[in-house]
Amino acid sequence: MELFLKGKRAIVTGGTRGIGRAIAESLLDAGAGVAVCGRSEDSVEKAVREMSSRGPVFGQACDVADHQSVASFFKFCDDKLRGIDILVNNAGIGKFRSAGELTIEEWHAVVDTNLNGVFYCSREALSRFKTCGGGYVINISSLAGKNPFAGGAAYNASKFGLNGFSEAMMLDHRYDNVRVSYIMPGSVSTEFGSGGGADWKIHSSDIADIVLMLLRMPERTLVSRVEVRPSRPKR
Ligand SMILES: NC(=O)c1ccc[n+]([C@@H]2O[C@H](COP(=O)([O-])OP(=O)(O)OC[C@H]3O[C@@H](n4cnc5c(N)ncnc54)[C@H](OP(=O)(O)O)[C@@H]3O)[C@@H](O)[C@H]2O)c1
Repeated sequence: MELFLKGKRAIVTGGTRGIGRAIAESLLDAGAGVAVCGRSEDSVEKAVREMSSRGPVFGQACDVADHQSVASFFKFCDDKLRGIDILVNNAGIGKFRSAGELTIEEWHAVVDTNLNGVFYCSREALSRFKTCGGGYVINISSLAGKNPFAGGAAYNASKFGLNGFSEAMMLDHRYDNVRVSYIMPGSVSTEFGSGGGADWKIHSSDIADIVLMLLRMPERTLVSRVEVRPSRPKR
């Protein structure tokens, strides 16, 4: 593969498995140095070990829903990567129950991870982009960010919010050489929720290809959002 990201430094939240892992691997294959996080220390260690033959990869356990944990992860990244050019806000969870059945803990877990976590990480990245001359934030949203469904109250709210946050952040920082895009996938073949894998679903590597496509765009051009769905979903 052409090393078009050689010298670039990227952070991928939730980069230990699924979509985030595929993105981290593609960024490494394109020449970037990459730092990943996940809540489980064992999974972070395993992922870093398995990806290390691809390029410079680092990892630390971090819960993006906890702003102190995020601050500590970004300090770790400063030490290992010496700057940041790309942030992929990918870490996310789903709790699929009706609004009346959702517990307060479940609501907070989803919104704190999928929305507040993106704010915490973006805030850390934006302050660093100032000294790096700019950067790129790519948020992994969902088609659930525009299509509500029964049982999706917390997840829909978090992803609708994420789309609004992404667009406002783009408007706030476009003249600071910061680009912001968000990707809205339909069903992807990962362990997310209780979905699991299936032949008809999007593959994680397809989302990683979209991330690389965004990063290849000339700086003058910004793709704000990408909607992507299985071509032939199960009927
Ligand atoms: N799969 C789909 O069909 C689909 C469709 C549309 C959008 N998405 C979005 O794509 C993103 C990735 O989903 P996926 O399918 O790859 O899920 P996944 O296979 O469950 O992987 C999620 C990753 O995020 C990490 N993570 C979860 N909560 C975290 C937290 N609080 N702090 C830090 N890391 C955390 C997980 O590690 P730990 O568990 O160790 O923390 C793991 O590395 C999510 O934002 C999801 O909403 C998925």
